[in-house]
Amino acid sequence: MFDDLKRLRGAVENRRIESLFAEDAERAAAFSASCGGMLFDYSKTQIDAEIRAALVSLCDAAGVAARREAMISGERVNETEGRAVLHTALRDRDGEDLFVGGEDVRAGVRSTLSRMRKFSGEVRSSGQYDDVVNIGIGGSDLGPAMAVLALAPFHDGPRCHFVSNVDGAHIQDTLKGLDPKRTLFIVASKTFTTIETMTNARTARDWVVAGGGDPGTQFAALSTAAEDVADFGIAAERMFSFEDWVGGRYSMWGPIGLSLMIAIGAENFDQFLAGGKAMDDHFRSAPWEQNLPVMLALTGIWHHQICGHPTRAVLPYDQRLSRLPAYLQQLEMESNGKSVAMDGQALNCTSGPVVWGEAGTNGQHAFYQLIHQGTGVVPCEFLVAARGHEPALVHHHQLLVANCLAQSEALMRGRPIEVARARMAAKGLEGAELERQARHRVFPGNRPSTTLIYPQLTPFVFGQIIALYEHRVFVEGVILGINSYDQWGVELGKELATSLGPVVEGKESTAGKDGSTAALVAFIHAQGG
Ligand code: F6P
Repeated sequence: MFDDLKRLRGAVENRRIESLFAEDAERAAAFSASCGGMLFDYSKTQIDAEIRAALVSLCDAAGVAARREAMISGERVNETEGRAVLHTALRDRDGEDLFVGGEDVRAGVRSTLSRMRKFSGEVRSSGQYDDVVNIGIGGSDLGPAMAVLALAPFHDGPRCHFVSNVDGAHIQDTLKGLDPKRTLFIVASKTFTTIETMTNARTARDWVVAGGGDPGTQFAALSTAAEDVADFGIAAERMFSFEDWVGGRYSMWGPIGLSLMIAIGAENFDQFLAGGKAMDDHFRSAPWEQNLPVMLALTGIWHHQICGHPTRAVLPYDQRLSRLPAYLQQLEMESNGKSVAMDGQALNCTSGPVVWGEAGTNGQHAFYQLIHQGTGVVPCEFLVAARGHEPALVHHHQLLVANCLAQSEALMRGRPIEVARARMAAKGLEGAELERQARHRVFPGNRPSTTLIYPQLTPFVFGQIIALYEHRVFVEGVILGINSYDQWGVELGKELATSLGPVVEGKESTAGKDGSTAALVAFIHAQGG
């Protein structure tokens, strides 16, 4: 499938990206795509017109358009679980009729949203709560936690906190200083069986009771599991349900986004949904070459599957997007980190890459050394807003933007040995010492990066960005032949953790465990653990 592209890669491997700009004055415009005021620039890569044409042909060969419509129209594209995949419906209340298993999807979405609106309005205006604590993990945590931070300038509701880790330190440190009578807990779990979330929820309930609060009015649930929610003691009117056609890591657009709605208000939440919907419309209508999710996906495939770069760095020059890399780790690696194709056969290509990153400029003072001078190439994906939210601190934003642009320029241009030598000579060095010092100051350059630039991080733009990445993962999955919507790879660890629980507690022996695990348990017990 990738033979042509691998041949093209061989032909351009040593070509300087800079030379493409010298040859084509219009390259920046020709190798970028835009959607609703947002620009994705992939011109600082080796992709040229021929490579792009070959990449784009993958979409037709893999049937991306048909698969996209199948997903959006509610077909059961999550074939290993027999489920529809309809997170797009969560941001499209008014679309044409959509039924899954006889249920009216649009009516359900509208009714849940209006209940969320009412509940969040009451939480925001009642004066009953100072703090809201969302208890969830993975998709029931990463999305809303990232979003609440991203949209801090719009935050005018009670303080929001997020507890995910089963490590008691997380809940303990979060609850420190909170009032057990004036804190609302939102237990967010699609299954309502996740051990970390249920353990934290029970601890929170004990804390409320011990502090004289009322769990009956201080808990709400976001879940698909009505019976388990009732068993926990949360009343039906305080439960916001969703269907199995919403994957955990795609769920922040519905009830899992309740903490975000409480933080920023329903109107801003609507804007967030509208941004997601705008990206959906773009994804469905823009030609492949001008389609942001498609070009983001194809750039990723070029760098990982074709060029063989094993990881991808996501580098938001936007402090409020500092949780985006963690969110994308789940979105991309849980979706496309698979070695079996949809048809049950071994994948005939490399699965999705390792995704990692950190907000700029912080990362510059930590790991950029390796990005610039390490032996491997790390394709970098920069994100930056044209405008910040701090009018009194415009010079901060200008510095931030300058740093972002400087990094992609430095990665592409590098610094040749002649320039490094001239610098050392100017410092008065000569001979072998000049040469030795100069070599340390060489930057190979020719390292690819893309930049996503948006006007300002508003709820609408944030919605666009998240939907963009969701669809990118979808396109990559279809081209690789992966089901992006299951996650069987997390099951084995969960099963073993359940069986190891009594062993760690000392109620069962380590018989049958491997030597390493048995020795680690023995060490823990010897330490009084
Ligand atoms: O363990 C992985 C996972 O199933 C994720 O896919 C999911 O987002 C997370 O756990 C939390 O699941 P739940 O919302 O059911 O508690």
